[in-house]
Amino acid sequence: MYLSKFESSGLILPRLDNPARYSRFQQYMDTKMLLMMFVSRLAEQISPDDVLINVCNPGMTAGTGLGKDVKNPGFAARFFIPLFVKTVGRSVGAGASVYIHALITEGRKRHGSFISDWTIKPYPRLMYTQKGQSMRERLWQETMEELHFASDSGFADLFASGREKFVNNQN
Ligand SMILES: NC(=O)c1ccc[n+]([C@@H]2O[C@H](COP(=O)([O-])OP(=O)(O)OC[C@H]3O[C@@H](n4cnc5c(N)ncnc54)[C@H](OP(=O)(O)O)[C@@H]3O)[C@@H](O)[C@H]2O)c1
Repeated sequence: MYLSKFESSGLILPRLDNPARYSRFQQYMDTKMLLMMFVSRLAEQISPDDVLINVCNPGMTAGTGLGKDVKNPGFAARFFIPLFVKTVGRSVGAGASVYIHALITEGRKRHGSFISDWTIKPYPRLMYTQKGQSMRERLWQETMEELHFASDSGFADLFASGREKFVNNQN
């Protein structure tokens, strides 16, 4: 996420979908950065009293399925990276404990935050700039348009009806 150099002054999702600019590692970093932008925006839409939302990074973790579905892996992806991750990565249990930490500690301040190494970390630098804030808003609008099929008035309405159901179930 911190290594992403993705910037766009126009549409974000079509740029991300463009095969001409695709590079696997870069795309991974870019999607993590955009995930953080989206989740921080989503968290503004939802009260932490209803749902706590954040982005959690387990850190380099050995023994998971990450990268196992790569088609035609090169030498580094087949041998070097797995050996490196196995040597310096965390156990699955330690990686999973970051998710548990994100769920049960840090209090309400973790809502919309980035949690890594069992603590809240800063957002990527771009998110503190005007350009990043504008991208975050465009990403939100584009995603809402993508999801418009689910509800005539978009997500805001979906959340409202979900909350109404929740309140009715409590009574
Ligand atoms: N491992 C690391 O070193 C590391 C480091 C930093 C961040 N992360 C991040 O941590 C997260 C978990 O990684 P991991 O190492 O546990 O990878 P993983 O073993 O490949 O697990 C990924 C999980 O996501 C599920 N999944 C994949 N595509 C999905 C989809 N379209 N819809 C619903 N579920 C889907 C998979 O389900 P199936 O089992 O059914 O395929 C699997 O349970 C990822 O976001 C990864 O980028 C991992």
